[in-house]
Amino acid sequence: MSINVKQLAAEKAVEYVEDGMKVGLGTGSTAYWAIRKLGERVSEGLKITAVATSRASEEQARELGIPLVAFGDIDSLDLTIDGADELDSSLQLIKGGGGALLREKIVASNSTRMIVIADEGKVVDTLGKFPLPVEIVPFAWEWTVAELAKLGCQPELRRSGEELYKTDNGNYIADCRFEAIEAAPKLALTIQNIPGVVDHGLFIGIAAMAIVGKLDGSIEII
Ligand code: 5RP
Repeated sequence: MSINVKQLAAEKAVEYVEDGMKVGLGTGSTAYWAIRKLGERVSEGLKITAVATSRASEEQARELGIPLVAFGDIDSLDLTIDGADELDSSLQLIKGGGGALLREKIVASNSTRMIVIADEGKVVDTLGKFPLPVEIVPFAWEWTVAELAKLGCQPELRRSGEELYKTDNGNYIADCRFEAIEAAPKLALTIQNIPGVVDHGLFIGIAAMAIVGKLDGSIEII
């Protein structure tokens, strides 16, 4: 039987959740396993409140009986558990493959601790193989995409079937293909300064720890 490395990492991260915590729930197929495990622990008596980073995660948490609050109803969170599309040894991340990067960044940035959960295939020496998702407003999107292209990437507007993909916030995502992202903090600032950009999937200095599930059944902590 093959090992589910996403589940392995996710369930390890849930061990860090303690009674009374306010927990940020990530988005994606790895976060799915964390939310599932949290639901199990809640049904066994764990007392937490949670904030979801997407409609999908909110729905899953609600079905599992995890008490949810709106982000505006709390001051801050204790712990956020979320996946990533890529991470390096300095805990710089690319996120947003699932389109939830803005809410994910708001929630993680307001958490005392963010634990990243990933399978070993997500760990890279240099970020950039995964196209960097950038959330942009629909108004003048053509111009914003052209500005992104000037940074040396090939941006492509994400689609969902025939339609342009829309985030939970009603915006578009431009997936920006770079060769490699050598100076992620600098690029993060440059992208953030382009009018029309809402946010981008570079998470720099936000994650406190990564739990990486490996195919041999072991776990690596970064
Ligand atoms: C969603 C994300 C996800 O955390 C990221 O895409 C990883 O997803 P998965 O666990 O399905 O590989 O950033 O916006």
